[in-house]
Amino acid sequence: MSMDTRNQSAEPDRETIGKMCVMAADMCKRSYVPYSGFHVGAALLARDGRIFTGCNVENASYPACTCAERTAFAKAVSEGAHEFTAIVICGCAEDGVFQYCPPCGVCRQVMGEFCSGDFRIYLAKTPQDYETYTLDELMPKRFTPAYLRK
Ligand code: THU
Repeated sequence: MSMDTRNQSAEPDRETIGKMCVMAADMCKRSYVPYSGFHVGAALLARDGRIFTGCNVENASYPACTCAERTAFAKAVSEGAHEFTAIVICGCAEDGVFQYCPPCGVCRQVMGEFCSGDFRIYLAKTPQDYETYTLDELMPKRFTPAYLRK
């Protein structure tokens, strides 16, 4: 039996996904990446329809770097959004060529804090060219807030 009692998510329509792909790609231009030169942008869809964007923000003290996905989650939660349907992630090295950029383990854990197993994760090169996964696929058997409740 699933420990996750949150609502299940419907897949966003293609128009919304396309819009989020453009927003995520745009966010790559805002990335602060003097160390890695790797640009990541994210667009996070809240259940209420709002879309929150984020970019990666690096730091001379490397562990203080923030990923694009977590920037988007922090912006969303600070604006009162706690339920999410989908995220689009775009990433490119200095050559500017987008690759399918999967979220790191820490970002997957943050997704697991707020999102149900069918939360959609789109790894986009363009609005027409992306891979789709669910959180369950990318992070099975994750530690969720449900374990702390008795
Ligand atoms: N990065 C992200 O922004 N998201 C991920 O999920 C993977 C990695 C960033 C962190 C760092 O600024 C750069 O990519 C290289 O690791």
